[in-house]
Amino acid sequence: MVAMLKLLVLLVTLAGVFSVPLQDKITPRSGEACGYESCPVTENGVLNVHIVAHTHDDVGWLKTVDQYYYGSRNRVQKAGVQYIIDSVVKELWEDPKRKFIYVETAFFWKWWVRQPESIRDKVHTLVRQGRLQFVGGAWSMNDEAASHYQSTIDQFTWGLSKLNETFGTCGLPRVGWQIDPFGHSREFASLLAAMGYDGLFLGRIDYQDKSSRLHNQDMEMVWRGDDVLGKSSDIFTGVLFNTYSPPPGFCFDVLCDDEPIIDDPDSPLFNVDDKIDDFISTCFKMALAYRTDNILVTMGDDFHYQDATMWFKNLDKLIEYANLKSAKDGLNVKLFYSTPTCYLKSVRDANPELPIKQDDFFPYASDSTAYWTGYFTSRPTTKYFEREGNNYLQMVKQLQVLAGLEEHNKFVLNELKSAMGVMQHHDAITGTEKQHVTHDYERLLNQAIDDALLIARQAFNKVTQGDALKPPLFEYARCRLNESSCHASETSDQFIITVYNSLGWDLKEALRIPVVEGSYEVYAPNGQKIDSQLVPIPPLVLKIPTRHSSATHELVFIARLHALGIKSFYIKKIKKNKRDSHTHDYYNVGSNVRSHGLNVKPTIIDNFENRAKRDTSDLDITFHYYPGCVGNNRVPANRSSGAYIFRPNATSPKQLNPLTTENFNGVLVDEKRVVYDQKVLSVRRHYKELEFIENEWLVGPIDISDDVGKEFAVRYQSDILNNGEFYTDSNGRQVLKRKLNQRPQWNVTLAEPIAGNYYPVTNEIYIENGDKRLTVLTDRSQGGTSLQEGQVELMLHRRLLHDDAFGVGEALNETANGEGLVVRGRHRIFTTKDEVLLRKNILQLHQQPIVFVSEAHIPYDQWLTLDNCHRFLKSSLPDGLHLLTLEPRGEQLLLRFENYKDTNMQIDISNLFDGIKINGIHETNLAGNRWKEDVESFEWRKEREFADSFNKQYGGNGETSHVSSNGQIQDEGFNVALKGKEIRTFVIDYDLVKKETL
Ligand SMILES: *[C@@H]1O[C@H](CO)[C@@H](O)[C@H](O)[C@H]1NC(C)=O
Ligand SMILES: [Zn+2]
Repeated sequence: MVAMLKLLVLLVTLAGVFSVPLQDKITPRSGEACGYESCPVTENGVLNVHIVAHTHDDVGWLKTVDQYYYGSRNRVQKAGVQYIIDSVVKELWEDPKRKFIYVETAFFWKWWVRQPESIRDKVHTLVRQGRLQFVGGAWSMNDEAASHYQSTIDQFTWGLSKLNETFGTCGLPRVGWQIDPFGHSREFASLLAAMGYDGLFLGRIDYQDKSSRLHNQDMEMVWRGDDVLGKSSDIFTGVLFNTYSPPPGFCFDVLCDDEPIIDDPDSPLFNVDDKIDDFISTCFKMALAYRTDNILVTMGDDFHYQDATMWFKNLDKLIEYANLKSAKDGLNVKLFYSTPTCYLKSVRDANPELPIKQDDFFPYASDSTAYWTGYFTSRPTTKYFEREGNNYLQMVKQLQVLAGLEEHNKFVLNELKSAMGVMQHHDAITGTEKQHVTHDYERLLNQAIDDALLIARQAFNKVTQGDALKPPLFEYARCRLNESSCHASETSDQFIITVYNSLGWDLKEALRIPVVEGSYEVYAPNGQKIDSQLVPIPPLVLKIPTRHSSATHELVFIARLHALGIKSFYIKKIKKNKRDSHTHDYYNVGSNVRSHGLNVKPTIIDNFENRAKRDTSDLDITFHYYPGCVGNNRVPANRSSGAYIFRPNATSPKQLNPLTTENFNGVLVDEKRVVYDQKVLSVRRHYKELEFIENEWLVGPIDISDDVGKEFAVRYQSDILNNGEFYTDSNGRQVLKRKLNQRPQWNVTLAEPIAGNYYPVTNEIYIENGDKRLTVLTDRSQGGTSLQEGQVELMLHRRLLHDDAFGVGEALNETANGEGLVVRGRHRIFTTKDEVLLRKNILQLHQQPIVFVSEAHIPYDQWLTLDNCHRFLKSSLPDGLHLLTLEPRGEQLLLRFENYKDTNMQIDISNLFDGIKINGIHETNLAGNRWKEDVESFEWRKEREFADSFNKQYGGNGETSHVSSNGQIQDEGFNVALKGKEIRTFVIDYDLVKKETL
């Protein structure tokens, strides 16, 4: 009764906006049906041709998001999404037989909020009647190589929440639609399955893979997304016949030149017979590649349907005349308007036996010289900025809830969610867009971060002053730490560092604060002076063209941070000659200039390894560049290396010469700096308290005075005999085994033996043998490989002078302030096999503690009285448990718990947070848009059973692993069970209560 009342109140509130209650608009009336119930009836024994009218609307590529939406700058590309949706709605309204799908919620939402009530009503009707269906439905059609699972889940959550709140169940996308991304990850398949999708359609797979699949009728399969999750991660996956374009000759858009269907028998142009014969024969050809009597014909392309009349008028005729001809000539073919969802339903009804897949679809090659492995690294600074954006997003989502801030903050929160959703698009994080579009993405994300920081400032204010809205004591400035530049710390004699740790466990992070030379003291919140060390900023950093800073040094200290904690440190610059024993500067223990080309062995790494006694592997770090191929792209042999394609013009890369080395050893960190020719710097450092070796690399400006584009890579050479095998992560979650010059499911011929062995590295790459392992963690997505025994190679930066002819029409030649772009980043190198330690470090580099710097307008003594160490978890989460998401959801909150171990665990979620009382929980699917109890999944017949573990099977050594099943586990109230590798999503009723600890 109470629940009913609540629902009623909710509905009335929602309905307040509309003239008719929302529920009436979204619930199918009698005679109406959406989803599978709205599908056309297929016939047995005939070829059922599902005509799928669609448009592919890139959320930025050659034009910016807004330029595409409004149809501005049509000379660059004729595309205006607002007209597309306007026009499609009109045409759908004309004829109930017509259907259309829409994919990118970023565009749909931009359009929806600008529509009058009359149009919205029509769209509600179209959706209720299954005439307009959503597929995909995330904010954008995300890339699958460079994207991280946390951001993918977030952008689905965001897009799907809009669809659900607007259209209810009829707006629910049933299938994934990844028709343009350049290769497909296994983790994404796993995530889609967990989001309750019934199927996934792909456009681009490797040309050799595709030809063997076409030949063997393997275009559709059951893809197992994750070995540990097993069956629950299985998803039907179909590869489209013609990427996502119409069959040749059947493009009826304003953008095409194909002949329309001319059905006036008196006209000399009459072409119905020819057209229909041609189309039907194409259909039968397509049908050979698929196992059921159904085929899906994509009728649309990039930004098609701006004038939807052209498409629909011709499709109407195509369908009508083909069916007439089939009936007349007994051709047993039937055409009808359909959707991917309806196609999937027909396939399921036919219940074919399907092949299985357990690996992924990387790397993607479209012909023998076109390996799309350059984009794994293209635009490395944008890729890093996207990571930062995610970091800020996680922080503000958490703080909005934990600090109990005002509801209206959700506007800035949503702005950042949208910006991050856009960044996941397959021409955004990939770096395959035009330069001006990159600038626009960066503008968008930067603005969104700036605006959303309002939440962080209010939260900090609430913690320190007890009132979020009081004028803040501090400015909490964001610094450009990747350029070692920070106004507040380099211009003031006392300043405050505020750090937020968005991870659910206590951790240590080395902070490096830009300052001018001097003596500094660092105080922890308890008034204790903590060790710090001053190190000079390397000259190549000081010379970064975009850098505006007077800082000469970095003040280094180790911050001990709490689980979901805010902590601040007070820094005093002390008068010279008053130096005391707590301030330790570096000791420059010697530098030398080398003129010969020998490798520089990083002795600190040897020291570390001896000390840690973990491994005796002998690690050499070398830097190299590949000169890029140049050609006119007319034939594969003339392919250029470009934004998408990696095509080195050499059988091995050119190794850089070390010019100088310097060592800076101190109380906290030992550093060895090597400057190479070609403007490359490598700082290998070991923080004595931390478990890894860090290699901070700087590349650029890349010299192109010789008119040669160059792609820079680092190689870590160990003595591990990895036998041509290496492991790369899939979107930061599971790890896949790779074998040099091989593919798991078909015999590959590699005309490009370097590019064809590159794989996406979102967070991690490793090689191993027995007890030995060498893991390199990255701070952004990069391409990586292992071309020689014992080696890990990662591509860092690319500057190219030619387009590779896949549409972007520009060379990937990034500049800043008139010079080639400089990139600086970090790798963290581990030799341990401790999976928990590694996982925590992977997450820590991915979700780096966020640093704010404020001038200290108050004296130290007053600062000491503030709450400078505040945490929102009672203690660190147990090993294996990751708090993947904590965000507001109306009056409730959305929590995601991830078990990153393979074994089951049980947690009492009511006892984790300090300051939150959990009153009720309701589980949803992974994307938070469906209640768990409403999710059902399809069963498929398979040709054979899945192997226990792909990684063990791949390579044919017959080894099998035993995935821990650990028996059944069950929830008991707030005590929830997480199976190995499981992520569970809950909507939580809660109250903020007084904290127990302070
Ligand atoms: C989806 O939206 C409907 C109303 O549109 C709402 O009743 C339902 O609770 C939503 N589902 C979830 C999982 O939020
Ligand atoms: Zn696209």
